[in-house]
Amino acid sequence: MFPKETYIARRKTLLEKMSSCAPEGKRGIVLFIGNVEAAAQYKDNAYKFRQDSSWLYYFGIDEPRFAAVIDLDGGEETIFADDVEIGDIIWMGPQPTVASKAALVGVGKSAPYGAVDSVVGKALAAGRKVHFLPPSRYYNTMKLSALLGIPEGEISAKTSEDLVKAVISMRLVKEDCEIAQLDDAGALGQEMHTVGRENIRLGIIEQEIVGKMEACTLAKGWGVSFATILTQHGEILHNHGHHNIVEPGRLMVIDAGAENDMHYASDYTRTYPTSGKFTTKQKEIYQIVCDCNELAFSLTKPGTAYRDVHLATARLMLENLKSLDIVRGDVDVMVEAGIAGLFQPHGLGHNMGLDVHDMEDLGEDLVGYDPDQKRSSQLGLGSLRMARRLVPGHVITDEPGIYFIPALIAKWKAEKTDKGFVNYGKLEKEYLDFGGIRLEDDVLVTADGARRLGPGRLPIRPEDVEWA
Ligand code: GLY
Ligand code: MN
Repeated sequence: MFPKETYIARRKTLLEKMSSCAPEGKRGIVLFIGNVEAAAQYKDNAYKFRQDSSWLYYFGIDEPRFAAVIDLDGGEETIFADDVEIGDIIWMGPQPTVASKAALVGVGKSAPYGAVDSVVGKALAAGRKVHFLPPSRYYNTMKLSALLGIPEGEISAKTSEDLVKAVISMRLVKEDCEIAQLDDAGALGQEMHTVGRENIRLGIIEQEIVGKMEACTLAKGWGVSFATILTQHGEILHNHGHHNIVEPGRLMVIDAGAENDMHYASDYTRTYPTSGKFTTKQKEIYQIVCDCNELAFSLTKPGTAYRDVHLATARLMLENLKSLDIVRGDVDVMVEAGIAGLFQPHGLGHNMGLDVHDMEDLGEDLVGYDPDQKRSSQLGLGSLRMARRLVPGHVITDEPGIYFIPALIAKWKAEKTDKGFVNYGKLEKEYLDFGGIRLEDDVLVTADGARRLGPGRLPIRPEDVEWA
């Protein structure tokens, strides 16, 4: 937990931001619902608890079954949770009181969990607006539905856009104390990747490497920040199968990150030659992705839209694919036509923070796009999750990739989506069994440019990732 002043200051800023949405006396209340435990099979065998990230941001308490109300008109704050009784003490041991936990985050008033029903009920009866965020868990949807008398299916549509925008504006720009946590999660993520690289051996099952990597973050942090991707089929972007035997001559994509004990994330991707050395063909494609990663980093600075950085890397990618005779024609026209999407059907990067894809539960476009930016419908650019003009404190990933996806190549060929720019003869003859390459770093936008998070940088140049 951060010092209580951090949470007090955040809630004060939130109150100020929300004060512009209505005149005093008409602002209503903000309702936050923390996560509860989710049964794996039966109630007492629950999945590992993960607190809601916006709750953590404003209230810090990393325990299940908490809620809070902020009165936007009077400024009063209340935390709702139950003190333990003897039945809990037998199984969990003695616990601090809810009041003392609330005091740790600067909230002076607490009440039993069930009391939130009457507080919200009273606000509704008085015709006051109840602001809430889109719930990411089913329990929270159910709870909101019951509290507000809104059918579950309508909860998402009734969330408060004013609140969503206020929260996004705050969480998007990381405070110094958060950057320290992100560096810490970066250190842990880099340790995972170092272990991963050192454990690539022909003949073993991929899962053995996954286990050793995840042991690092479980030993020193909370766990993984998302389900580890480790595969010799990197052309399947989020391949979570780890059952294959490591074979010679393949490319292994490892996309994995750590979540530290304060729940900040890291997210790195490296691609290794399973035999220790790239073939010439692999190295050519690897070098293009590596150059795109470097270009993106060099362009990352305040004032630049990340959408333009995505497009600059798409241009470089196509230029280099053209020199390999994989695509043919005018590069600028190809960029405009979205031809890069055949090879990189995802965006250059996303926001990162308390969530590895930060705040996507609050709405991808609201999080990743400035009000005057419109999301593209092109494959690749349309999946860009962070397009905004950059400001100091933004934390983003830089993750270009090139993939040869047989089904996508066949579809584009059949539907002539490439408008004649793609040399299918070469692709079909030489690249259908290539796999994919992705290279990802985590980047902080600074006052005059950017720096990579974490203590150093995972090896990335082809000669540095190869081994004897
Ligand atoms: N590293 C997983 C993702 O960005 O989706
Ligand atoms: Mn990522």
